[in-house]
Amino acid sequence: GATMRRESSIHGQWSSKLVFVLAATGSAVGLGNIWRFPYIAGENGGGAFVLIYLACILLIGLPIMMAEIALGRRGRQSPINTMATLAREEGLHRAWGLVGWLGVTAGFIILSYYSVIAGWSLSYVFRAASGAFAGLDGEGVKNLFEGLVSDPERLLAWHTLFMLMNILVVARGVRSGLEKAVKFLMPALLGMLLILVGYAMTQGHFMQGFAFMFRPDFSQVTGDTILLAMGQAFFTLSLGMGAIMIYGSYLSSRASIFKTSATVVSADTAVALLAGLAIFPIVFASGLEPGAGPGLIFITLPMAFGEMTGGLLFGTLFFLLLVTAAWTSSISLMEPAVAWLVENRGLDRPLAAMIVGGIAWFLGIGTILSFSLWSNPIGFNLTLGGESLFIGGTLFDMADYLTSNIMLPLGGLLIALFVGWRMNRRSVEEELGLRSRVFFKAWYHVLRFAAPIGILLIFLKAVNLI
Ligand code: PHE
Ligand code: NA
Repeated sequence: GATMRRESSIHGQWSSKLVFVLAATGSAVGLGNIWRFPYIAGENGGGAFVLIYLACILLIGLPIMMAEIALGRRGRQSPINTMATLAREEGLHRAWGLVGWLGVTAGFIILSYYSVIAGWSLSYVFRAASGAFAGLDGEGVKNLFEGLVSDPERLLAWHTLFMLMNILVVARGVRSGLEKAVKFLMPALLGMLLILVGYAMTQGHFMQGFAFMFRPDFSQVTGDTILLAMGQAFFTLSLGMGAIMIYGSYLSSRASIFKTSATVVSADTAVALLAGLAIFPIVFASGLEPGAGPGLIFITLPMAFGEMTGGLLFGTLFFLLLVTAAWTSSISLMEPAVAWLVENRGLDRPLAAMIVGGIAWFLGIGTILSFSLWSNPIGFNLTLGGESLFIGGTLFDMADYLTSNIMLPLGGLLIALFVGWRMNRRSVEEELGLRSRVFFKAWYHVLRFAAPIGILLIFLKAVNLI
């Protein structure tokens, strides 16, 4: 069988190709770049991790992003219904619809903790504006951060506020407001990061930070390092859970999938690398630890803002931009589930947005408590070939690990297999609309072989099977 081409979605369409690029970039660029990338790279030794991450972006992320946009535009529905419809048209098993369910589940779990971390950022907007960073040393910034995360009630208030902000936007449809927000946000965020990198160059240990990020030491690389690098690639590009798929479903049939994907991937990668270059030189100059964990940017950047001229203004602006970047990402986490509720349950958008936001809000309490009452890791010891290994962590650790390193790559693998091996090649070719046949073939081969084999090998390596 072959699938048919659809020109529009019942949920509407982006008013131009540019708006899609902005929306998809808004989804991609977020806490993943500025909060998660530096702290995961810092915990995993830097250089080698960064190199493997970049390889995953190019060889797995970019081709899968193209496949995900193509799927979304072909099906023009929520990921669950897109997968089910395309599978039916191709004469395939209904079970492919489960790829959509996997994505929606991952979306809920990610949103639940994403909103808590965005809440930290919100709180830091006000801290920066009130001059709380002035003259703080390493101890001071750590204490300030500890004071926040050990207070579940305050965290709950910020988490609630951020979730309400998301519900507000998604209720009105992701298009309105997004265009203006992202058009202003991206250049401003880039400018702010450049200021921070400038500060790191003059005041920090820049060469040490640079070497940490780009000089690979492969002797430290384990299967888990590679899995974490791949997980970060999926997380940062918003791949494997249907967010990019549903944004693709609102994309005009004429827009080039390759060009838009390449733009989104480049912008996302640039922001992550700049964030690293801003943060690590400050880490080394102030005697902090690159492996400080999820608090890394909240203990390094305030030191810079507390010291630099204009730090009050820059700090406030920076955290405001961080919140906005997180906002444009988290609305894309809600959209697949909301679209499904509208399609299959006949709900109107505001109610659907409230239900999805409400469930994620409730789940987020687990993350809030992971930094105070429930900070003791839970799990079990696994003994494999004489080596004992602890599996587990806090609820936050588990939510993050399970989604980024398992659910998103698994979703990406299934998407690559579906588009590369199960869909009619002509449908795929038509939807991609690439002018050059050679180029199509190259992409198709990477999607059929390199990407899925890469993901599988990394999974196997992570559990020590190879
Ligand atoms: N890509 C976003 C970020 O880097 C997070 C995200 C993941 C958004 C998955 C949507 C889907 O912050
Ligand atoms: Na990102």
